[in-house]
Amino acid sequence: MKGSLDTLGWVKIPRSDDVLQWANHAKSVADDILLLPDLRHWYRCEDTWFVGVDCLPNDETGHLAGGPEYPETLKAHVPDIPLHAGQVSAIFPGYPKPVEGESEAAARYRIKRDAAHVDGLLPEGADRRRKLKEPHAYILGIPLTSNPSNASPLVVWEKSHLIMRDAFAKAFDGVAPEHWSEVDLTDAYHSARHRCFNECDRVELPAEPGEALLIHRHCLHGMAPWNAGDGPPRIVAYFRPEGPWQDWI
Ligand SMILES: [Fe+2]
Repeated sequence: MKGSLDTLGWVKIPRSDDVLQWANHAKSVADDILLLPDLRHWYRCEDTWFVGVDCLPNDETGHLAGGPEYPETLKAHVPDIPLHAGQVSAIFPGYPKPVEGESEAAARYRIKRDAAHVDGLLPEGADRRRKLKEPHAYILGIPLTSNPSNASPLVVWEKSHLIMRDAFAKAFDGVAPEHWSEVDLTDAYHSARHRCFNECDRVELPAEPGEALLIHRHCLHGMAPWNAGDGPPRIVAYFRPEGPWQDWI
């Protein structure tokens, strides 16, 4: 096992046969999803990124029709929470091309900072104030394809989850969990992110089918630009089920 969820904010779950079998079946499902006309709206960045939120037709146990049961190996690493329809994220050669209508700063952030973010803090309103809207329990990435390591791997800022947790805990101080979603986290998040860029190691985490990446819910993470040659997309299935609010900090 590489990494440590508590101390580093990420773990690579080593290759296992049950994860590989699930990933191989999910890959065949994902290949069809990427071609569905109804899901064209998920393509971004001049078709170099298919976002694919909630696109995988798995049930609450993670099972896909016609495929193997959801891997015991993965269940052993995470709390027992029903799963949502998985995300099918696909990155294509050339990522990231600009998004139409986007500011130059946003395009630059995607290239220079891997579009780094903490999941679940969603921008609201015209001034894009960020609030915790989805209290994820964990983030689990299951690679469905084998790609060169410099073809847009997941990127994490190691130990950033500790800096982020302190910042969020301070912002939520004295506020009951049922009101956390009303707390404006924008400034706390931005200054914590700045600290993470300065103080944390940026680590690229390429992974192969059969392996899986478990990312701490507070960990700053993103996707590196595609620095490899032409080739098939990197497809990853993501699960990030929501847990109880009071458990988020
Ligand atoms: Fe994310």
